[in-house]
Amino acid sequence: MNPFEELESNVRYYCRRWPAVFSSASGSTITDENGVEYLDFFAGAGALSYGHNNPILVDVAIEHLRAGKLLHSLDTFTVEKRRFLEAMQRYVLDPRQLDMVIQTVGPTGATAVEAALQLAQRITGNRAVVGFEGSYHGMTYRAASISASMAGRATSAHLKDFVALPYVANVTDDDVKLLKDTLRATVDGQKIGAVIIEPTQGEGGARPFDPAYLRTIREECSQLGILVIADEVQAGVGRTGPFFSFEGSSLDPDIVCLSKSISGLGLPMAINLVRRSLDTWAPGEFSGTFRGNNLAFATSAAMLENYWADSELEKGTEQRGLLVRDALQHMADDYGRGRFAVRGNGLLCGLDVGSTEVAETIAQGSFERRLIVETCGAGDTTVKLLTPIIIEEDELLDGLDRLNDAVAHAV
Ligand SMILES: Cc1ncc(COP(=O)(O)O)c(C=O)c1O
Repeated sequence: MNPFEELESNVRYYCRRWPAVFSSASGSTITDENGVEYLDFFAGAGALSYGHNNPILVDVAIEHLRAGKLLHSLDTFTVEKRRFLEAMQRYVLDPRQLDMVIQTVGPTGATAVEAALQLAQRITGNRAVVGFEGSYHGMTYRAASISASMAGRATSAHLKDFVALPYVANVTDDDVKLLKDTLRATVDGQKIGAVIIEPTQGEGGARPFDPAYLRTIREECSQLGILVIADEVQAGVGRTGPFFSFEGSSLDPDIVCLSKSISGLGLPMAINLVRRSLDTWAPGEFSGTFRGNNLAFATSAAMLENYWADSELEKGTEQRGLLVRDALQHMADDYGRGRFAVRGNGLLCGLDVGSTEVAETIAQGSFERRLIVETCGAGDTTVKLLTPIIIEEDELLDGLDRLNDAVAHAV
């Protein structure tokens, strides 16, 4: 009997793409039960930016477990949560002059999004939400309902009180007009309470928004009393270089959703950063049994202390990102016949090959070459590269060679 096929729901997905039984992992490599090593350029869908089993963070976790510290803590005070909050203040909030409080929520990105939407509705009294085509915010009902595209893999349950605007790479007057009109309109009888945006889209195809458009969103929303929610679940915590992918854009969000890599070690954890003046929650109004993953607080604090005390990691991610996009551009030039496009920001990169079949063949060909990559974007036409951001340069080049080979054979 194959227990996976016999016992696991038909909904299983990644195991169909990469049908190995994995047993260990280190840095950018995962190893199956037969000892075959794969380079992991998917990194837990972005949850492993700091690598598999990052040794610094594993040590923290082992010490935590051995010392009999709390694992589950709801939202009680703990030593680890204090250290995490102080690290966030010191390495993230203060250097960026963000006067925000930290809301711990249940452990998924979707929960952070739910909390953000509920808070926005509570503050503005308006339920309708504006989002963007190609965005993905999670699988709970409300998060799915504002996910304008599920990368072609599932149907979104659109609610009537949601409007999706087009993705904007280079802002035009028409884009600004559409934004202004939409923000002033009512949807299903409801005024707009929030705009939710992934400043760099992940599932939508590694697509950064034009910073000038992000600034316009901020200006318009400020005028109209609409809240700006930045969903940084995938692009945040250093994925694009800076801690937040919106840095330098004047988006200045009211709420920032973070999850995936925030624990540093791939542990379940999510938080929202909320502008202090908007933190109008009543005590206990938004709850959740698993909003106090104390082990994740410990590893997250260590991640912040070790990687965000200076700008080395940020610079390294930007450099490695350039290297990736340069290699992807070569692939586009050599094999694309004008049909491929390179996308991305920092180490959230993609090669849009303009065809679902070709992208799929490349992903499968990569797996045959022991490289794990996923497809994304509308119609799944983009091969996405989400390497750990701490990847060594020789591993990066090795993986890019394997990808190049897979692309060469797919066209
Ligand atoms: C931008 C973004 N928001 C939210 C989510 C949902 O996170 P989770 O799967 O942890 O619910 C994801 C997951 O891929 C995401 O990429």
